[in-house]
Parts: sequence; structure tokens; C-alpha cells
Amino acid sequence: MMVKPGNNQTQTKTVGNEMKIGILGSGMVGQQLGLGLSGSGHLVKIGTRNPDKLRDWQKQTGEKVTIGSPAEAAAFGEIVIIATKWADEATLKAIDSADRYNFKGKIVIDVTNPLVSDGPGKPPIPGVGYPDSAGAIIQKRLPESRVVKAFNIIGAHYMTNPKLEEGAATMFICGDDKASNDFVAKLAADWGWDVVDIGGIRESYLLEALAMLWIRYGFLNNHWKHAFKLLRK
Ligand SMILES: NC(=O)c1ccc[n+]([C@@H]2O[C@H](COP(=O)([O-])OP(=O)(O)OC[C@H]3O[C@@H](n4cnc5c(N)ncnc54)[C@H](OP(=O)(O)O)[C@@H]3O)[C@@H](O)[C@H]2O)c1
Repeated sequence: MMVKPGNNQTQTKTVGNEMKIGILGSGMVGQQLGLGLSGSGHLVKIGTRNPDKLRDWQKQTGEKVTIGSPAEAAAFGEIVIIATKWADEATLKAIDSADRYNFKGKIVIDVTNPLVSDGPGKPPIPGVGYPDSAGAIIQKRLPESRVVKAFNIIGAHYMTNPKLEEGAATMFICGDDKASNDFVAKLAADWGWDVVDIGGIRESYLLEALAMLWIRYGFLNNHWKHAFKLLRK
């Protein structure tokens, strides 16, 4: 299946073609998605305030991955991924520093979870909750983009390789523009995800709550190699 995202920047693009993808965030998630996307043949630019910290990592990525400022990464991407810390308004600061114009008309994949600290040694807690969510807040911040919440319910290392011992895991996604959701669904399905679209970006609160459950299970069992699977009859 070839899925075309319905927007002016990526209209002629399909997931099967080489795309330019900008990633805001250079932590575990930004790095893993950068590797996965470049491994799938896409050109990636990671946006960071501190490019030097990625120089060693970049040696393993190959030439399809470049490093730039947040604004350069957002401008570069036909699609932009947001993979930044939430606490201290870091995600909103990162978006603003990348210049909101650079997101205009694009699919924006939101991987964030709105985690804030509950104190040393304790699992993080959500900084926003129903009816609000990080996904909805980002969509409000970027009204001329089509935000798709995805990949937030799994640890970074499995985002681009969801094949666990008990089978392929389920990736729930949501976003207001069906064509954009389909585009992200195809991207995820190509990595092996069983993708389930649960509707508009307002439903992000469900995906962020699911991430809290994933984190809770991890803390209780000291186990971080788990994922959700939707079983159907
Ligand atoms: N780690 C996981 O397994 C996982 C799984 C699912 C979802 N998530 C979510 O994905 C997001 C990224 O997670 P992560 O573990 O990769 O790393 P993280 O430590 O949560 O975030 C790292 C990134 O946040 C940016 N950042 C921090 N403070 C900032 C500020 N004040 N202004 C602008 N940018 C700032 C950093 O930018 P610089 O590069 O400029 O320093 C860095 O790139 C988070 O929202 C997390 O909850 C994580």
C-alpha cells in the first residue's frame, strides 16, 4: 500500500520514497528514530542546542544523518518529529526555538510524554492530564501542522523494531488528519508494528496514560522490554 500524506509539503511523497525528516531532540528517542529512519533510506537531520555531544554517535549513523540547530532540523524536514523532554516547558521552548513557521503545512509526529519528576527514585508522573495532553498542546502550538501522536508507548530501543519474543506489538496512534495518520501508520507498519488509529489528537491523553502504565510496569518489575498488544477475535 502506498500512502500519500495530504499536505502541500509532502503531497508527492510516499513512505516508500526517500524523505527528509527533521527530528527535534537528541536523546535516546531522537537517536533511535534517526537510526531507524536512515536505515529505512530516509535523510535525517537532528536538531539540538549542542551538536558537539552527538559527534561520537554520528560516527555510527552514516551520511544520511546530519546534525543541526532545532530550526535547521525543522526547516529540513518534510516531516518533523518532536522527541524532546516535557518538563520545564522544554518541548514548547524547543518548538519555539525551531521557529513555528518551519512546521507549517507539515506532518509533525509527537513522541513526547508529559513527564515531570515526583522526587528522587520515584517514577515520573504526568504533568498534564485529561482532557488535555501533550499531543493536544503541541497541536494548539502548531495549528498549521498536522500532529500525529505515535511511538510514545514504547521504549526508545523498540520504536523501530517492535518484534518481541511474544510477537509484533501494537502501536496506537492518533491525529486529526486521517491521511497524515495513515502516512505515519505506514511508516510504523513498515517497521513491523500492528498499528491502530484511535482517532483525533484529543485522544492523546489515552496514549500518554498508556505510556504511564508502561513506565509503571517497568518500575515495578525492573523490566523495560515490554510492549502492548491488542488481541482481537
Ligand atoms: N526514552 C524513551 O524510551 C521514551 C519512550 C517514549 C517516549 N519518550 C518521550 O520522548 C521524549 C524524548 O525522550 P528522550 O528519552 O529521548 O530524552 P529526554 O531527556 O526526555 O529529552 C532530550 C531532549 O530534550 C531536549 N531539551 C531538554 N531541555 C530542553 C530545553 N529547555 N529546550 C529545548 N530542548 C530541550 C534536549 O535538547 P538538546 O539536544 O538541545 O539538549 C534533548 O534533545 C520525551 O518526551 C519522553 O518522555 C521517551
